[in-house]
Amino acid sequence: MVWLGPPLLLPIVFLASHVGAASDLTLLADLRRTEPQRFFLTCVSGEAGAGRGTDAWGPALQLEKDDRIVRTPRPWPPPQLARNGSQRITLRGFSRPSDLVGVFSCVGGAGARRTSVLYVHNSPGAHLLPDQVTHTVNKGDTAVLSARVSKEKQTDVIWKSNGSYFYTLDRHEAQDGRFLLRLPNVQPSSSGIYSATYLEASPLGSAFFRLIVRGCGAGRWGPGCTKECPGCLHGGVCHDQDGECVCPPGFTGTRCEQACREGRFGQSCQEQCPSTGGCRGLTFCLPDPYGCSCGSGWRGSQCQEACAPGHFGADCRLQCQCQNGGTCDRFSGCVCPSGWHGVYCEKSGLSDWAHGSASTEMHDTDEGYFGGHVSAVAAPG
Ligand SMILES: *[C@@H]1O[C@H](CO)[C@@H](O)[C@H](O)[C@H]1NC(C)=O
Ligand SMILES: *[C@@H]1O[C@H](CO)[C@@H](O)[C@H](O)[C@H]1NC(C)=O
Repeated sequence: MVWLGPPLLLPIVFLASHVGAASDLTLLADLRRTEPQRFFLTCVSGEAGAGRGTDAWGPALQLEKDDRIVRTPRPWPPPQLARNGSQRITLRGFSRPSDLVGVFSCVGGAGARRTSVLYVHNSPGAHLLPDQVTHTVNKGDTAVLSARVSKEKQTDVIWKSNGSYFYTLDRHEAQDGRFLLRLPNVQPSSSGIYSATYLEASPLGSAFFRLIVRGCGAGRWGPGCTKECPGCLHGGVCHDQDGECVCPPGFTGTRCEQACREGRFGQSCQEQCPSTGGCRGLTFCLPDPYGCSCGSGWRGSQCQEACAPGHFGADCRLQCQCQNGGTCDRFSGCVCPSGWHGVYCEKSGLSDWAHGSASTEMHDTDEGYFGGHVSAVAAPG
């Protein structure tokens, strides 16, 4: 592997420094298979076409297990890394269940845009399992990490942050079969990997979490947090340093106002999930502060459950509430009968191109293929 020394790196940093946005980088983990031999991770970059010269000079995509915090036995034989062009890299060929547990990172993009994306894998056979692995919260919020008892043990539970002792919960403090860690008034320095482990149990049986704390309060960004976020839709998260929306998989646009066609992802919907089953069973990790989620239309710890009627989007977190005969599409939201449009199909009239939100919110992202439902322009709430 070629590593660029400082003399070469400096001009790249200079060239790239005017571009604020996070890299278009997605780390996918295949949760459909629990056997380590069939598990794989793929990291996809949407950058090469756009950034031509930069990409030719830039360091390659990297994908590896990061054992600095979660230390597990070294995978043996080592998993195989396969590159497909400069934009796609896959890690597969694991042998033991313990090879999968822990943190994986993909690093991509060049210069100032070099970004690392993390994925945290929990063993399905663990004593404790996270109700939700990644949590993104704002500075000053209260974060609650919840570890669900899967195989009970009669011992206390130890919480760790970044691998160091943090807190003990008495075994009788479980609520509804869950051990909760409440973190009031979180600060960016509280970000990191958290784990809950039964005392004297194997660390491999822990519930592992990732907490991401934005550097500003809700809806704010910038130095001193004086700037207002654009109002990211559909579950997009406002980047605290550049004010841009990191859109959930399956959504695009400066405010994530547009749904991709089913099975598509990437900043301009340029990537496609494997055709069999679409994005079922895949978890998508994006640059911070987004973290990870299922693809649009899917939910559950293995991302194998379709959204319940009336719900849509990544992890099915959005609600349709369609009016006037609109039907809920779990990938894009309300699909309106002709004559109606708007997020809830609440607007009548053929078209309002001149002042409609759809036309004003379409920016430089329309090179990809979109579902084109005008109704997916904004999110409820
Ligand atoms: C490389 O990726 C392309 C899509 O980007 C795919 O069509 C092709 O089959 C891949 N090749 C290998 C060897 O995986
Ligand atoms: C965990 O490690 C990260 C990266 O080194 C650091 O930024 C963060 O403050 C640490 N968090 C805690 C709670 O120690």
